[in-house]
Amino acid sequence: MLLEAAGIKKVFGKLTALDGAALTVGENEFHGLIGPNGSGKSTLMKCIAGAEVPTTGKVSFVNTDITAFTPTERARAGMSLKFQITSVLPSLTLYDNILLALQAQSSLFDLVFSRTRGLLHDQVMAMLRQFRLADRAFDAAAALSHGQQQWLEIAMALAGKPKLLLLDEPTGGMSLEERRVTGELLQPIKQHCSLVIVEHDLDFIRDICDRLTVLDQGKVLASGTVLEIQANKAVQEIYLRRA
Ligand SMILES: Nc1ncnc2c1ncn2[C@@H]1O[C@H](COP(=O)(O)OP(=O)(O)O)[C@@H](O)[C@H]1O
Ligand SMILES: [Mg+2]
Repeated sequence: MLLEAAGIKKVFGKLTALDGAALTVGENEFHGLIGPNGSGKSTLMKCIAGAEVPTTGKVSFVNTDITAFTPTERARAGMSLKFQITSVLPSLTLYDNILLALQAQSSLFDLVFSRTRGLLHDQVMAMLRQFRLADRAFDAAAALSHGQQQWLEIAMALAGKPKLLLLDEPTGGMSLEERRVTGELLQPIKQHCSLVIVEHDLDFIRDICDRLTVLDQGKVLASGTVLEIQANKAVQEIYLRRA
């Protein structure tokens, strides 16, 4: 397994946000994390990324216990996250935003060689093309549509060539068309990267994910393939309860 989170408990004062939650993700797997509002999805993502420290429990990544790793150490180990809070610098061009993200991954040694600068240019343009943003390369990021800003952020999150990408509601506020394109843009990264994605849009999740984990009140209600989860009576129950 690429990622194994087990027995994750997270207590905020009197509130138990996670109560023994677990999540396993294999290589080249797209894994959807779903569940009602307040069920602990974002908290579990943060415990995996290191933005929150679990009260108890263990997180393993590439067969290493990373429970005590800082977010920076996790990034170095190959984990990348994009949360709702933006990391784009709005006054810079798309080109410079991607360049900064790539440079952050390069060593000083690499950067002093002008040869590397040419290589970085090619990488920046390739990433912009991959995310359908090449024609906007020299516009300020602030001028992008909401959907395009999200794609730019996903591109930046991929700059370090992570083994695992964590996305918490990336399609929030997107139009239907932007959602569809987001699904298309994510699909090819499966060749080199796994994904854990939190999403409310069940159609979207069904289309792109291999496996799903359903949280309810901080516990795993079910985990399995998309077909298994769709057929699961307890899962149908919580979604009916909500509707
Ligand atoms: N930093 C925090 N302090 C206190 N309570 C929190 C904090 N973060 C989340 N919670 C609570 O934990 C529960 C789970 O929240 P969250 O993980 O954001 O759920 P979800 O993402 O599934 O909507 C909620 O009741 C929420 O109010
Ligand atoms: Mg959330």
